[in-house]
Amino acid sequence: MAGTKPKILILGATGQVGEAVIPLLTGNPAIQVVAATRSPEKWKTPGTTAVALDLDRIETIAPALEGVERAFLVTGYTVDMLRQSKDFLNTAKQAGVRHIVHLGACGDDDTRVDHYAWHQFIERYIEWCGFSFTHLRPEIFMQNLLGYGGESFVKQGIIRHFVGDARLSWVDCDDVAAAAAACLLDPVRHAGKTYRLGYEAKTFGEVAETFTRVLGQPFSYEARPPEEFLQKVLAAGSEPAYMRCVYNSYVWLTAGVDLGADKVFDNFPAITGRQPRTVADFAKTHADRFRY
Ligand SMILES: NC(=O)c1ccc[n+]([C@@H]2O[C@H](COP(=O)([O-])OP(=O)(O)OC[C@H]3O[C@@H](n4cnc5c(N)ncnc54)[C@H](OP(=O)(O)O)[C@@H]3O)[C@@H](O)[C@H]2O)c1
Repeated sequence: MAGTKPKILILGATGQVGEAVIPLLTGNPAIQVVAATRSPEKWKTPGTTAVALDLDRIETIAPALEGVERAFLVTGYTVDMLRQSKDFLNTAKQAGVRHIVHLGACGDDDTRVDHYAWHQFIERYIEWCGFSFTHLRPEIFMQNLLGYGGESFVKQGIIRHFVGDARLSWVDCDDVAAAAAACLLDPVRHAGKTYRLGYEAKTFGEVAETFTRVLGQPFSYEARPPEEFLQKVLAAGSEPAYMRCVYNSYVWLTAGVDLGADKVFDNFPAITGRQPRTVADFAKTHADRFRY
């Protein structure tokens, strides 16, 4: 009976990670999947319904959580994530939600990077509320290579970025989604776990070498000053508080400060049953976006 199936609510369902989670859950006869979005009228994906949820309008949260057993908590690139997550979690507790899978960010527990730390405060609040939980901590998304803050950083074979020669640990959003789906489908197995998700450490120069090999055209890396990043994303309308945190991390990385940003992990096959995607796989999949 449909009414007795566990209901899973996916926040950020129209975003990079949430959108990739939905098809991994739809069609599974054991669960009901509901997509949360501020614009449910635009939702067209077969096999799921959408519910209106605006984390900035607290009155929309409880109706969206009716009957929900598990939730994927995703927030966007704004400092509002702190208040939004707290409102969501308080309401979810009252609504009887049992398991929260949280999309956090990279970093060791003693990270100096502000927005990673914000996610860690949310993790601690999830635990303090008494939910069963799984914390996901992805490293840098390969999708950032497609564009970030309204700007594409790969043009005509030149990859422009703002971290100097820092080596970063990469993960494909589709793999973050695969890990999230596994945790949402089997919360007992993944309860109490923190999964760092980053599988291949490369500098942008090494990413350019990979692109050259895989795409058969020359690619090169041009390190740009972090100030240029901040100007571009603010001009594109991104939220300043979050973007200043990203900028600060780029300043540190450019200066060679060790933020642990190159750490890689071997947990992916155990979580999902397959190997993680490589930067080479990503270049092939999105070849039409990078070739020139
Ligand atoms: N980029 C990276 O390298 C990286 C690395 C590690 C972690 N992360 C983390 O990944 C998260 C972002 O994930 P993403 O890239 O998938 O996000 P995204 O593509 O920017 O999508 C954001 C989603 O949030 C929803 N949203 C925005 N404001 C909302 C509100 N007020 N109420 C309800 N929903 C709202 C949007 O849905 P609607 O517009 O449909 O409402 C959209 O689906 C951030 O927490 C970031 O810290 C990113």
